[in-house]
Amino acid sequence: MSKIITGFSKMTKQEKIDWLTDNFFINPIRAKETLQQYFNEDRVLQELHDDFIENTLSNFYMPYGVAPNFVINGKDYAVPMVVEESSVVAAASLVAKFWSSRGGFKTSIISTTKVGQIHFMYKGDADGLQFYFDKIKPQLLRATESITKNMRQRSGGIIDFELRNKTKELANYYQIHVTFNTQDSMGANFINSCLEAIADEFKRSDIEIVMSILSNYVPECLVRAEVSCPVTDLYEKDAKRYAKKFIQAINIADVEPYRAVTHNKGIMNGIDAVVLATGNDFRAVEAGVHAFASRDGQYKSLSHAEIKDGIFKFWMDIPLALGTVGGLTKLHPLAKLSLELLDNPSAEELMQITATAGLAQNFAALRALTTTGIQKGHMKLHLNNIIKQLDASEKEKVFLIKYFENKTISHNAVVEKYREMRSRK
Ligand code: MEV
Repeated sequence: MSKIITGFSKMTKQEKIDWLTDNFFINPIRAKETLQQYFNEDRVLQELHDDFIENTLSNFYMPYGVAPNFVINGKDYAVPMVVEESSVVAAASLVAKFWSSRGGFKTSIISTTKVGQIHFMYKGDADGLQFYFDKIKPQLLRATESITKNMRQRSGGIIDFELRNKTKELANYYQIHVTFNTQDSMGANFINSCLEAIADEFKRSDIEIVMSILSNYVPECLVRAEVSCPVTDLYEKDAKRYAKKFIQAINIADVEPYRAVTHNKGIMNGIDAVVLATGNDFRAVEAGVHAFASRDGQYKSLSHAEIKDGIFKFWMDIPLALGTVGGLTKLHPLAKLSLELLDNPSAEELMQITATAGLAQNFAALRALTTTGIQKGHMKLHLNNIIKQLDASEKEKVFLIKYFENKTISHNAVVEKYREMRSRK
């Protein structure tokens, strides 16, 4: 029987659930119960979430945690993180505390420019097109005035735009490349509206506008985060050797893309968690960051480290187009709460906090990888998740945690120990 449906979006939530569970589940009652279990009893709150997207059926919980003890440019922060991976918040908290007694994190904004492009096809003479563009440029700007009014009052808006000839890359392809300052908003809607207004004014019968859209590649919306301390303050034993190993790990990520991707994934563990907690667009951030990591033609480490005159320095420049107004930032009650927890930062401040969380995460991963190995800490935290799947009693849980304190943890080992324990009863 066909499962293709017309008018699904017009059904009520209950009708959607009924149709879906009846058509796609062996046990529709159980599926319905699972979906309903996550409904919020607060009707207003539920309706707010329902309206974020189309066809909302339920809510999908992610843990909302916090990593305290971050010192960033001398100011103390507890950083909100939304993430499902058990070790991420623990690692961030540990590293935040570690650096809090070593001068904390230092951050700075390198640039905040965002980009949008109007892509179009033109078969005529390139000089003629340039002439037309130069002539109409003030008119194009005027076409955006009503959209940019508020942004201009906040010293943002369109920075500049230029005609780019891309016909060497693709026949007849040109673009208007527009740069923006969107102040405290991420600016996607603002940029796209400006671009569409410009394109509308620019179009001619011999100019075929293909599309007008912001770019999530933001190499000029860049923030730096760094830490430094005497090498000898880094590790209790053999500090120099371990610091060198740490740097080697980064050098490896610089030349080996297989490693670089995992290395940067560790950074994104911290970045995405803050981006999500503050209601920002993590897909945009992910896309932009990874493109930046391959800007030299090879995918490389985003972070860097060196030892100079006995001082260990670890830093990262990362593109982060974030907002603290607009989008979900003030609409989602928990995103709003996150921003309040961070003392209602500007977009630039949020970029700095988020970059710090990424650098902290990378520090935690590299330190573990080059010393004890990652599994020791990781599996210790994962042990709880394994035990949960076993239906163990509180007493059994305490026993298993104690038993695995000094042993290698694996899913199999825990299940075996649990079975052995049960069979002895
Ligand atoms: C796991 O989520 C992240 C790490 O793999 C990062 C890394 O290898 O650097 C531990």
